[in-house]
Amino acid sequence: MLIVERRPIIDVYNILLPNLQPVVYKLIEDRAIIEDHHRSEPISCTMGFSRNRDKVRHSLQNLFEELWRKYNLSRDHAIEYGSGATGYYDAFLRPRDVQNWLQVEINPSAIAENKKRNPGANIAEGSYNYIQYRGVPLITGLSSLDTSENLYHVMDQVAEALAPCGYFLHVQDVRPGITTVLNYLNRKETYPKEFLSN
Ligand SMILES: C[S@@+](CC[C@H](N)C(=O)[O-])C[C@H]1O[C@@H](n2cnc3c(N)ncnc32)[C@H](O)[C@@H]1O
Repeated sequence: MLIVERRPIIDVYNILLPNLQPVVYKLIEDRAIIEDHHRSEPISCTMGFSRNRDKVRHSLQNLFEELWRKYNLSRDHAIEYGSGATGYYDAFLRPRDVQNWLQVEINPSAIAENKKRNPGANIAEGSYNYIQYRGVPLITGLSSLDTSENLYHVMDQVAEALAPCGYFLHVQDVRPGITTVLNYLNRKETYPKEFLSN
């Protein structure tokens, strides 16, 4: 006899949300504070992403294959910002024939874990807020630039670093960081400096 264990169905809107305590998020515009936060953030915050990604890994791989094909993205030289502790993008998602992939990450603990998991990977410590590379054919990231406090600044950095006709590709496959969203909305003058959410 086959026994199928069913997960309980939870009505998120009627059961879960009304019981959550609202949290006040405050706008933080200070780059040094935000960078310090990410530099010392426990890697457990992001390690869990791979659990869900593994379930749809093949679809994600197809998505990246298709993006590379459709936009004829560089297959030699790419820089990935915010590669995290698992290096998932480099390890599993980029098309396998892409060479000379450099990961740049701000958090030394994430770099250490990433190097342990992916001994062959090319990983440097650095920040997308201060990009010193030039003539780069592709700058990319996986759910990583949502950690910035000022996307306009990061985009200026990326634009300076890209080669003529170079590409920037960012794929967000987890919920974006609240600070980035808030700062973005506030810069557009559509939101207050404090935000209540549950
Ligand atoms: C949400 S995690 C995503 C990690 C990884 N890309 C993934 O999807 O599993 C964001 C990553 O960006 C890194 N990060 C935050 N600020 C950064 C910065 N200024 N420059 C480079 N990396 C940064 C964080 O340390 C973290 O590893």
